[in-house]
Amino acid sequence: MTTIENPIVAVHSTGDGPSAWVAAIKAEVPGLDARPALEITGDDLARVDVSIAWKLPHGKAASFPNLKLIQSIGAGVDHVLADPLRPTHVPISRLIDPFMAVEMTHHIVLQILRWHRQLDRFECHKAERHWPLSEAFDHRHLHVAILGLGTLGEHLSRALTALEIANTGWTRSARAVDGVATVSGAAALDDLLSRSNIVVCLLPLTDQTEGVLSAELFAKLPKGSFLVNVGRGGHLVEADLIPALESGQLSAAALDVFRTEPLPADHPFWGDARIYITPHIAAEVNPPTASIVFAENIRRIRAGETPTGLVDLGRGY
Ligand code: GLV
Repeated sequence: MTTIENPIVAVHSTGDGPSAWVAAIKAEVPGLDARPALEITGDDLARVDVSIAWKLPHGKAASFPNLKLIQSIGAGVDHVLADPLRPTHVPISRLIDPFMAVEMTHHIVLQILRWHRQLDRFECHKAERHWPLSEAFDHRHLHVAILGLGTLGEHLSRALTALEIANTGWTRSARAVDGVATVSGAAALDDLLSRSNIVVCLLPLTDQTEGVLSAELFAKLPKGSFLVNVGRGGHLVEADLIPALESGQLSAAALDVFRTEPLPADHPFWGDARIYITPHIAAEVNPPTASIVFAENIRRIRAGETPTGLVDLGRGY
């Protein structure tokens, strides 16, 4: 392992910019030399051993010749893999932050219960000052298919089970998770969809999962099912959604992610009351808690140990 004298951690994020992240990471590792990635130039480029970033401009990671770790500010690493100039010998870690799992679960449970308990209908009745006769709700008719059973899916499954909402996690390759019903593989997915009326997509975005939420998948669900996409916009074939709602195959969809973000003002999803839209806020990264994870990975990479959340580049997540 080559040792870099006075190593630098390069930090980048879109949105609020890197300064909040630099401060949070420095608070977690006193004395750390952490700087906004785009301000690092000249001889200092060779001192960067860790890049911590969300949507680092393409080519920037390649400008750090001694880089030892690319740490994603985010559970997904599709933004890292999208860089055509990415130094392919450098390991990538995704962010596994228990804080985000709780936030994600809150968001999904909220959407499921909003749909199941028909909150939209009652909001309309309120506007009309109407007190409707209403049939009782029955949570025993719910079955949630959780596509993707990483840290987030596992946390969601446990929460749903605690709420007595039946659920099954699906993974591409078989994986046993204590106390969680799981199935794997293509044939098992078809069977799972046929007995689920809620689908939650928590998959990573890869060549295999791109466009997985399509008319073909919707057709395997019972009529009137509910879709929750909190993975990536690329999972959904957007052109298939409104026809599925029109035909009644789906009754509603909660989308937090979109192919183009921000969702363009003229996008047809905005005008459809059956589509619940949130602006990619289901589980936002949180500098103080994420920095605990980053601090550990900086320590590990500098000690020659394996960082947490290491991405299997063969699988793409
Ligand atoms: C956000 O979408 C993330 O990848 O954490």
